[in-house]
Amino acid sequence: MPRLLPLLALLFSLRLEVCAQTVTYHADVAPIIHNHCTGCHRPGEIAPMPFTSFSEVQAYGEFIAYVTSIGYMPPWSPDADYRHFVGENVLTPEQKATLQAWVDAGKPEGDPADNPGLPDFPDGSLLGAPDAVLAMPEPYTHEGDMTDQYQVFVMPSGFGEDVAIRALEVEPGNGNVAHHAILGLDVSGTAAQLDAAEPGPGYESFGGFGFDAESSFFGAWVPGALSVSYPPGIGRTLPAGSDLLMQMHYGPTPVAETDLTEVNVFLSDVPIEREVITAIMGPQHLDAPFILPPGQVSHFHGTLPVTADVSLISIAPHCHLIGSSWLVYATSPDNQDTIPLISIPAWDFNWQGFFTFTHLTKVPEGYTLHGEATYDNTASNPFNPNDPPQWVTFGEGTEDEMFFVFLDLVPYQEGDENTALGPVATGCPGDISGDGIIGVSDVLMLLADFGCLQNCDVDVDGDGAITVSDVLTLLGNFGDSC
Ligand code: HEC
Repeated sequence: MPRLLPLLALLFSLRLEVCAQTVTYHADVAPIIHNHCTGCHRPGEIAPMPFTSFSEVQAYGEFIAYVTSIGYMPPWSPDADYRHFVGENVLTPEQKATLQAWVDAGKPEGDPADNPGLPDFPDGSLLGAPDAVLAMPEPYTHEGDMTDQYQVFVMPSGFGEDVAIRALEVEPGNGNVAHHAILGLDVSGTAAQLDAAEPGPGYESFGGFGFDAESSFFGAWVPGALSVSYPPGIGRTLPAGSDLLMQMHYGPTPVAETDLTEVNVFLSDVPIEREVITAIMGPQHLDAPFILPPGQVSHFHGTLPVTADVSLISIAPHCHLIGSSWLVYATSPDNQDTIPLISIPAWDFNWQGFFTFTHLTKVPEGYTLHGEATYDNTASNPFNPNDPPQWVTFGEGTEDEMFFVFLDLVPYQEGDENTALGPVATGCPGDISGDGIIGVSDVLMLLADFGCLQNCDVDVDGDGAITVSDVLTLLGNFGDSC
């Protein structure tokens, strides 16, 4: 036995060495980068540097290992251990370790034959041919002065009658500057007046659409996000004569960039049986007056009773720059059951969005919705717009704050829990069946999709196609639970 130990140690170190040596760009790093980064990090998209080739990625290797290790990239603010959403983009600990191991090994290139190739990044709509396209009335030029710009554009819906829509999809005109967009609806004509009162295309507004009245948030878009397409029978009415509002956030740029963003409108093929309702938790639901003293971290807790069985579609917490975290959940009347809805441990104003649940998510009648938000109004909050910190209250401006949770929902119907709202990401590659263990059923499901080249549901290694490498990855994890 004692003689075995050195042998084991030797074998172990050999194994480690083999592992370290086998991490190469083409075989191990490219699949991660292509699938999780290149969507934004390619020419014409929002990220400042492209990651499409070995030399481009190699040049940033250390930085990539760093920003991924701290969770700064890819940008995904909800805690994936609390709740999964459609379009979730997070790296597993193994993927982060692979990036680090590659840097530690001196960023070897490996054999180009191992490279899975760039995924097919489709141009245009991801949802098919739209029934109508609403566009910004005229192009907008964002000056090259390295500042952010928040500009609202008013797009008359143009329909002479109420129409039922199943999806709205934002197609940015200029990916270099289009950082994110928020959609709203105005039936009052207020936005059109605000637009007319300001010279040039659209009008400036930081927090929302610059007025609350009857405008409601309708959706949001960030690069790489999928638009929600409501399941059959669920939809939203665009009232005749209404205006669709789009608040564009243009990111800083050293050169002037011109944008003309469009919104693809998809009408519902079948009549809407369940109209999407936006429930709003706001400052009136808070346990204390919404006042943020300077130099303090304040915590607010809002509650909203659930008065009927509902199915949640998406959730969007909303605050400005002093806000630092969010936690939203629902509790049963006896407090024995908690439904986790969203946790955003480090709120980032620039990556806010409507997060779509993977399935319609039931919250029963009698439950209470809770929204907890923390605001760091100290000088150590790097995003604090006031230097030194000031008294802050509710308002639309950059230096004001907000407290809102928008919840898109429909009345509950039997079986809603099984209605998927988008491709399901399990957060556990290989667990295709979603049962928490990588087993025979996963192998069978993978083989059934073998050879798929695009938009494959069961892709294990994340390269976009279902090939031998997926089978090997899955077999390598066989028996694991997650
Ligand atoms: C949703 C779009 C998006 C995705 C996906 C994305 N990035 Fe980024 N990345 C950006 C943007 C935009 C910036 C510019 C800084 C900012 O706005 O946060 C950036 C900046 C960076 C930077 C420079 C950081 C700095 O402070 O200058 C690195 C390095 C980086 N990304 C690496 C990655 C890696 C690695 C991945 C994948 C694991 C990734 N990014 C995925 C959009 C994205």
